Amino acid sequence: MTAKEIIDIYISFFEKRGHKRIPNAPLVPENDPTTLFTSSGMQPLVPYLLGETHPAGTRLVDVQNCFRAVDIDEVGDNRHTTFFRMLGNWSLGDYFKKEQLPWIWELLTKDLGFDAKKLYVTVFKGGNSVDKDEESVLIWKDLLTKAGLNPEERIFYYRAEKNWWSRSGTPDKMPAGEPGGPDSEIFYDFGAELKLHENSQFKNQECHVNCDCGRFIEICNSVFMQYRKQGDGSLALLPRPNVDFGGGLERLLLALENQPDVFKTSLLHPIIKSLEKQTETPYKGNETNMRIVVDHLIAASFIILTGIKPSNKEQGYILRRLIRRSLDHLYSLKETQISPILESIITQYKETDPKLEENFEEIKNTLLEEEQKYANTRKEAKKYIEKKYKGKTVGDELMGEKEISADDAFILYSTHGLSPTQIKSLGYTFNDQAFAEKMKAHKSLSKTASAGKFKGGLADAQE
Ligand code: GLY
Repeated sequence: MTAKEIIDIYISFFEKRGHKRIPNAPLVPENDPTTLFTSSGMQPLVPYLLGETHPAGTRLVDVQNCFRAVDIDEVGDNRHTTFFRMLGNWSLGDYFKKEQLPWIWELLTKDLGFDAKKLYVTVFKGGNSVDKDEESVLIWKDLLTKAGLNPEERIFYYRAEKNWWSRSGTPDKMPAGEPGGPDSEIFYDFGAELKLHENSQFKNQECHVNCDCGRFIEICNSVFMQYRKQGDGSLALLPRPNVDFGGGLERLLLALENQPDVFKTSLLHPIIKSLEKQTETPYKGNETNMRIVVDHLIAASFIILTGIKPSNKEQGYILRRLIRRSLDHLYSLKETQISPILESIITQYKETDPKLEENFEEIKNTLLEEEQKYANTRKEAKKYIEKKYKGKTVGDELMGEKEISADDAFILYSTHGLSPTQIKSLGYTFNDQAFAEKMKAHKSLSKTASAGKFKGGLADAQE
């Protein structure tokens, strides 16, 4: 089954149940200065979840393109991507748990053809002054029993850290006015025989359904969006309870193909193949570099499509960092062209996102221009260092042939815009500790509003 087929089956399933399809909202949100990118399906729908009337009615279905800068450091493993598509169905004060959970179970086990034996569910255990979600437990017990499965072995309970959804996380982290609620998640089991747990960094802890070892993967969640955070820190009930379902398209595909590596699914593997060809390097053994190149170039292409250009601020800054970071990882494999990789991205996405192909030239030119600017920056940085250290022998500043002072490394960072990793990729070394201290001092000086927006994102010093 292709990504496009999953979308078609999902949309038609919910249209048959009275849902209106709404368009994919822009990746750069309109009229929302609090956030740089659309990072969840619910983001464009917040006013309606809070009570406003939606012109399309109370049952909606969509596919939302999302970009999560906060996940940038996670990319490189077998399942994280910064760009992804979220399948969503929405009840705005219409149906609730007793419709939502049986529908999703039917969608997965009948229409999408999942083997029920590979699925596990999780339910909110209670906490933060909200009771355990007993209603969902009863519904799941009935559904699982009817499927011939033992609910005791299939339903797992977690607190808010795992089974609560809001844009800001657990209830204590939600700002006043933010909607959220407990959720029920469905996990796919790749099977103990792959030994993913034994071979992971979590091997010394017990494996469980919501473990991060990679054996189980969350494929979707149904959020019962019924609370709003109050100014006094408490949670009040919203005027009407909502359902916010989120199904990660790339993750559904991965589970349907029983493929623990998202970069080996039918959607992304052809792009990896083109990268292998271009760099004359095998994916095996170079997974991290190749995953970063592919993920970042896909995300950059979708961001360019919104009209954003690489720059030094806000979305443009994130775009610049994505492109340069993907080039760093590409060059570590081979100094080669990016156009063939871009062509393969367009081929893989054009069926679901035809605008990518229509704007191919624009995307390509923006990438190539930035590649050129980055080449110039690297050249200028080298020139600066070579001039400064010309004729110097080993001394306080130049400790070895390639070692530069932390002050100079910081100049390359602050005026040339190079991250520590990029400085090192030019062949220079410096005292990491001294550099980190300079960064710390710099950061405490520049606590600007926009710095808050990049929190957890592309912090250069983390690269
Ligand atoms: N349904 C919430 C999310 O995963 O985006």
